[in-house]
Amino acid sequence: MGQDAFMEPISSTVGVFQCKIYLLLLGTCSGLKVAVPSHTIHGIRGQALYLPVHYGFHTPASDIQIIWLFERPHTMPKYLLGSVNQSVVPDLEYRHKFTMMPPNASLLINPLQFTDEGNYIVKVNIHGNRTLSAHQKIQVTVDDPVTKPVVHTQPSSGAVEYVGNMTLTCLVEGGTRLVYQWLKNGRPVHTSPTNSFSFQNNTLHIAPVTKEDIGNYSCLVKNPVSEMESDIVMPTIYYGPYGLRVNSDKGLKVREVFTVDIGEAVLFDCSADSYPPNTYSWIQRTDNTTYVIKHGPHLEVAPEKVAQKTTDYVCCAYNNVTGRQDETRFTVIITSVGLEKLAQKGKSLSPLASITGISLFLIISMCLLLLWKKYQPYKVIKQKLEGRPETEYRKAQTFSGHEDALDDFGIYEFVAFPDASGVPRMPSRSVSASDGVSGQDLHSTIYEVIQHIPAQQQDHLE
Ligand SMILES: *[C@@H]1O[C@H](CO)[C@@H](O)[C@H](O)[C@H]1NC(C)=O
Ligand SMILES: *[C@@H]1O[C@H](CO)[C@@H](O)[C@H](O)[C@H]1NC(C)=O
Ligand SMILES: *[C@@H]1O[C@H](CO)[C@@H](O)[C@H](O)[C@H]1NC(C)=O
Ligand SMILES: *[C@@H]1O[C@H](CO)[C@@H](O)[C@H](O)[C@H]1NC(C)=O
Ligand SMILES: *[C@@H]1O[C@H](CO)[C@@H](O)[C@H](O)[C@H]1NC(C)=O
Ligand SMILES: *[C@@H]1O[C@H](CO)[C@@H](O)[C@H](O)[C@H]1NC(C)=O
Ligand SMILES: *[C@@H]1O[C@H](CO)[C@@H](O)[C@H](O)[C@H]1NC(C)=O
Ligand SMILES: *[C@@H]1O[C@H](CO)[C@@H](O)[C@H](O)[C@H]1NC(C)=O
Repeated sequence: MGQDAFMEPISSTVGVFQCKIYLLLLGTCSGLKVAVPSHTIHGIRGQALYLPVHYGFHTPASDIQIIWLFERPHTMPKYLLGSVNQSVVPDLEYRHKFTMMPPNASLLINPLQFTDEGNYIVKVNIHGNRTLSAHQKIQVTVDDPVTKPVVHTQPSSGAVEYVGNMTLTCLVEGGTRLVYQWLKNGRPVHTSPTNSFSFQNNTLHIAPVTKEDIGNYSCLVKNPVSEMESDIVMPTIYYGPYGLRVNSDKGLKVREVFTVDIGEAVLFDCSADSYPPNTYSWIQRTDNTTYVIKHGPHLEVAPEKVAQKTTDYVCCAYNNVTGRQDETRFTVIITSVGLEKLAQKGKSLSPLASITGISLFLIISMCLLLLWKKYQPYKVIKQKLEGRPETEYRKAQTFSGHEDALDDFGIYEFVAFPDASGVPRMPSRSVSASDGVSGQDLHSTIYEVIQHIPAQQQDHLE
C-alpha cells in the first residue's frame, strides 16, 4: 500500500471519500495527491534549503517514482534528480547539491546560491495495475540577509525651522531586495506636504523642517529573509521661542499683573520653548525710560529696590540661532501686608459670607452702642466730656467724624401719627418704636423723628 503517505487508505470506501476531497481541493482525482506546505520559499544564500513535499495515494502500487525538475523563466526545465522506490538517480552535474531520501519526496538544496532561484517542480508517479501521476511547483527566492542600517542626516549640524531642509538617508551595506521604511517615534512616516521619499524610499526629505519634525527617527529595512532597524537619530531642529511666560514664586498673578507684598523679595522666572535655549533679558520701564536691568532667566525684585508702587517690566527671549525673539510685558504692584491678607481672605471667603460678617459686626456694634447709651447716666457722660482735657476731646471729635459730636447726642424717637389732619404734631408718649406702631391706625400714617437732648431736658427740670 502507499508509503510515506499523509493520508493512508484504510478501506476502499475511505479511498473513494478521499478521492472526493482531492476532487474538491485539486480539481483532479487520480487517487494520488502531492502537496507542498508553501508554494513560495525564501532561502538565504549560502545556507541549506529544504523543500518539503507530502504525497499520498490509495491504489496498490509496485513502483513509486519521484522526479525533481528546475525551471527559470524563459528557459527549459532542467532535470535535477529522480528516484524509483529507494534508489536515487541524480543528475551528475548537481550530484553534490541536491539530496533526496526516498520514499520521502522532500528535496534538500545545500548550499543555496543566487543561481538556484527559480521554480522547483516535483513529479510523483505511482505504478500499480494503472499509473497515477501528480506534480507540484515551489518558487524559491534567494536573498542575502539585511545588515544593520545606518542613518545619515544632512545637514548634520541641524536646520532652522521654516528655513532649512533636512534629508535623512538610510545606508545598508548588505542585503538584497531591500524595502525601506521610515519610522518616527516608532510609527511609520507618511508622505505629506513637507515629507517626501526617494524612489526607493531610502531617503526621507523634509522641506522645510518644523518643530513638529523633531522626534526619534529610525530606518527599518526588510527583505524576504530578514529585517533590521537602525539606531534612533534625533535631527537637530532649531526653533522658537514659543509660549513665552513669566511666573513668580510668590505673589498673586492676574494676567500680566503681579501683586506682591511690600518687603518681600520676589523671584520672577521667564521661560519660553526654544532650541537652542533662549537668552533672556529683563527690561524695566519707568516713566518714559526703558533700560535693561538683567540678563538670564531669573529676576529678583528685592524689597529695597521697590521704589514705586507699580513698575512695568518686560522679559525678552531671544533665540540666537533662529534669530527670532519674543517679549512679554508685566506689571508688579506692591501692596502692604494688610491689603495682601485681605485679598487672600477675600479669596477664601465668599462675597456673601463677607457681607454677612460685616452686617453682623455693624448690628452688634449698634446694639452695644444703644445699650451703652441706655445704661449710662447722661450727667456722667457730660461731666466726663466736660472734664476731659482738650487733647482727649479732640480725639473723640476726630473719631466721630462730625464737627461737634455733642450735636448728635440724644434720644431719637420715631413717632407715627395716624392721620395727617387734626393730630397735633407732638410726641404723645416717650415710647419705644414697637409700642408706637402697634397702637396706630394703619390708614394714613405720618412718621416723624424727634431728637431729645437729655441734658437740656434735665436742665429744664432743674
Ligand atoms: C519497487 O518495490 C516493489 C515492492 O515494494 C517491487 O515490486 C518493485 O519491483 C520495485 N521496483 C524497482 C524498480 O525496484
Ligand atoms: C522527510 O525528511 C525530512 C528530513 O530530511 C523530515 O523532516 C520530514 O519529516 C520527512 N517527511 C516525511 C513525510 O516523513
Ligand atoms: C487492480 O488490482 C486489484 C487487485 O490488486 C484489483 O482488485 C483491481 O480490480 C485492479 N484494478 C484495475 C483497474 O485493474
Ligand atoms: C529647501 O527646499 C526647498 C524646496 O524643496 C527649496 O526651495 C529651498 O531652497 C531649500 N532650502 C535650502 C536651505 O536648501
Ligand atoms: C526619544 O528617545 C529618547 C531616548 O533615546 C527618549 O528619552 C525620548 O522619550 C524619545 N522620544 C519620543 C518622542 O519617543
Ligand atoms: C515608500 O513608502 C511609502 C510610505 O511609507 C509607501 O507607500 C510606498 O509604497 C513605499 N515605496 C516603496 C518603493 O517602498
Ligand atoms: C513720554 O514721552 C512722550 C513723547 O515721547 C511725551 O509726550 C511724554 O510727556 C513723556 N512722558 C513722561 C512722563 O516723561
Ligand atoms: C547663542 O547663545 C548661546 C548661549 O545661550 C551661546 O553659547 C552661543 O555661542 C550663541 N551662539 C551664537 C551663534 O551666537
